[in-house]
Amino acid sequence: MNRLTNVPTRPGAASSRHGAAPTVPAQVAPNAAVVAPNASTTAPAAAAVPPTAATTAPTTSAPAAPGVHMRLDAQAARKGAAPAFAPSARQQPVLDVRHIEKVYGARGNLTRALVDVSFTVMKGDFVGIMGASGSGKSTLLNCVSTIDAVTSGNVLVMGEDVTKLKSSKLTRFRREQLGFIFQDSNLLDTLTARENIALPLTISHVPAKEVLSRVEEVAGRLGIHETLDKYPYQLSGGQQQRVAAARALVTDPAIIMADEPTGALDSKNARLLLESFEAMNKSYQATVLMVTHDSFAASYTHRVLFIRDGRIFTELRRGDSTRQEFFERIMEVVAMMGGEGSDAL
Ligand SMILES: Nc1ncnc2c1ncn2[C@@H]1O[C@H](COP(=O)(O)OP(=O)(O)OP(=O)(O)O)[C@@H](O)[C@H]1O
Ligand SMILES: [Mg+2]
Repeated sequence: MNRLTNVPTRPGAASSRHGAAPTVPAQVAPNAAVVAPNASTTAPAAAAVPPTAATTAPTTSAPAAPGVHMRLDAQAARKGAAPAFAPSARQQPVLDVRHIEKVYGARGNLTRALVDVSFTVMKGDFVGIMGASGSGKSTLLNCVSTIDAVTSGNVLVMGEDVTKLKSSKLTRFRREQLGFIFQDSNLLDTLTARENIALPLTISHVPAKEVLSRVEEVAGRLGIHETLDKYPYQLSGGQQQRVAAARALVTDPAIIMADEPTGALDSKNARLLLESFEAMNKSYQATVLMVTHDSFAASYTHRVLFIRDGRIFTELRRGDSTRQEFFERIMEVVAMMGGEGSDAL
């Protein structure tokens, strides 16, 4: 029942951080587990907490938060996938990052880009990653997505240690489990928005009727219907990013990774994109990891990991706070970490 798709990747990111991002075909499996959505977000709101307390504690055995309903994933249901209500499936984190380290360079010129980073992410969580320039945010995303190899430590996605995968399995893992949204939308210029979104499914021989209905559905959820028959050059940067979000979502990946997705957008388009992320997260239980400099963008998430000098400095959980309250708490941490107290680190 695998659905097939393609995912834009950044090959060679380890060696060239500024390389263009071509698209490659990929194969995507339906999300295997249906678990408590946003389990972490219903935890009591906490002030900034030390990483040892909040970010490194294993959450695999944590019970689902009260009031969280087990929901049959709409897409799994549509596909006829078996509902995964087994307790083990419910409890398994989508992502389990264990003590990862990343060292760049050779002896005498080493950069410790990541230092003992551990955290877990449950299905349906929306996690922000913040930190100053050079603190290791992109390295973290690249290591989690296997675009870059960790120096040590483990990254488990749906229970599988992806640091152990060899080339063909690695490629398959990226194709099946990940969706990417970058600062530059990387849409193909010669295809309309509809074709760009459909491409992953089309390449993978998903029946045309299903492709059409899936694209329509995702476009409807993200409010981009009016863009579907336009080419990327006819779209604003914000519209392009929303199309890129739809393209990442249409394959139903285990995790959607976004690196500074609002970085090139004005505030109105940034807000629209963030609302699209919220919609992805709410409607599809999409699990999203989003790197951002922007406290406003981070306030849309459920949880923010703050990185400093390659380490998780602290973590904030939104809990029951409003977005405005969460924004203020994020700003406090930004200021505490030596940011200017403005909206960015
Ligand atoms: N391919 C690489 N080779 C050598 N050093 C690297 C490489 N990629 C990243 N680094 C270094 O690792 C550290 C973390 O970089 P990273 O790109 O993760 O930062 P970032 O938090 O994403 O910054 P920004 O906000 O500017 O994007 C930096 O010191 C950077 O110079
Ligand atoms: Mg970066």
